[in-house]
Amino acid sequence: MRKIQLLTDILHDRHSLSEKEYELLIMEHDEEDAAYAASLADAVRRQHYGTDIYVRGLIEVGNICRNDCYYCGIRRSNKKADRYALTNEQILLCAEEGYRLGYRTFVMQGGEGSLPLERILQNVETIKHHFPDAAVTLSLGEYERDAYQAMFDAGADRYLLRHETADREHYQKLHPDGMSFEHRMRCLQDLKEIGFQTGCGFMVGSPYQTAHHLAKDLKFIEEFSPQMCGIGPFIPHKDTIFRDEPAGSVSLTIYLLSLIRLIKPNILLPATTALGTLDPLGREKGVLAGANVIMPNLSPYEVRPKYELYDHKISTGEESAQSRKNLEKRMEAIGFRVVTARGDYKESH
Ligand code: 5AD
Repeated sequence: MRKIQLLTDILHDRHSLSEKEYELLIMEHDEEDAAYAASLADAVRRQHYGTDIYVRGLIEVGNICRNDCYYCGIRRSNKKADRYALTNEQILLCAEEGYRLGYRTFVMQGGEGSLPLERILQNVETIKHHFPDAAVTLSLGEYERDAYQAMFDAGADRYLLRHETADREHYQKLHPDGMSFEHRMRCLQDLKEIGFQTGCGFMVGSPYQTAHHLAKDLKFIEEFSPQMCGIGPFIPHKDTIFRDEPAGSVSLTIYLLSLIRLIKPNILLPATTALGTLDPLGREKGVLAGANVIMPNLSPYEVRPKYELYDHKISTGEESAQSRKNLEKRMEAIGFRVVTARGDYKESH
C-alpha cells in the first residue's frame, strides 16, 4: 500500500499524528490518496451520525467590525462597506421564519462590536424563550471571559470562533498589530471551559500559508478537541490588501475536511459557504468527504449583499435558508438526509 494511505490508516485508528506526519499528508497526497481519505472519513461519519445532515440557520446580525483583518471584506478600514446592524425585532423575525422552515439551531454571526453585549444577551434570551427546543450559536468574535460567561448564562449553547491559523507568525501576517494570537487562543480556552460547544477553524490557502502551518492547524484541532470546526477556502475581496492574492484550493479544503473527520470522528463539520461559493458542487463534495453540517442563510434579503466577507459570496438561491426543499433534494441525491434535530455534539463512549 502507498505511504500516504498507510499514514491515513494510522490516523483513522489513532486520531493522532505528529506535526511532521500531518505535513507529509498535506505535501505528498495525490487525488487517489484524497479519495481514500474521503472514503474512510465518510465511513467514520456514518458510524457516528449516520446519513444525517444538520442545518443551521445563519443570521448575519451586523457587519460593523472593530477589527481590521487583512483578508476580510467587512474590516474596519474598508470605507466602501455599507454598514448595518439588525434590530432585535429583525433578529426575532429571522428566527421565527427559520423555525417555521424547520431550523432548530440559529447562528447569530456578525462583525465584532455589531451588537453591544447587552443586546447580544437580550437576543439570546428572546430566542431561547420563544423557541426553547432550538439551540443558539454565537459567532461574534473576541470578548473577555466574563462577557462569554454572561452569554452562556443567557442561554447560548455554542460559540464559533475560528482561530484562523495556529501559527503565531502567520497570524501576524494576516492581522494588524492590535490583534493578538494569544488573546484569540485564550478566548477559545475560555469558551470551552465555560461549557460552550466550541468551534474553531481556519481558511485554506490564506496568504503566506504553508503546509507546515496547515499541519499546525491539524495538530491544534487534535489537541484542543473542539466540538465544531469551520474551514473554507480563502477568497480575495476587492477592497482589501489581499485583493490580488489567489483563492484557496477547493480540493485541498475537501481533503482537509476528511483529515479533520479522522482526527475527531464525532466533530460537527460544516461544508461552508466559501466552499459553495468557489464550486457549485462544493457542498456535496464536502459532505461526501466527511462534513455533516450546512449553514443556510436566514438574514433579511436586503442585508445579505452587505455581509460580504469575500467577493461573490453566495447568499440567495441554493444558499438561502428559504430553499430548504432544494437543499433536501440535493442531499438526497447523494444519499444523505437533512434533519430538523438540534444536532448537538455526540460524545463518543
Ligand atoms: N475568504 C474566506 N473566508 C473569509 N473569512 C473572512 N474573510 C474571508 C475571505 N476573504 C472567514 C474568516 C472568519 C469568518 C467569519 O470568515 O475565517 O473567521
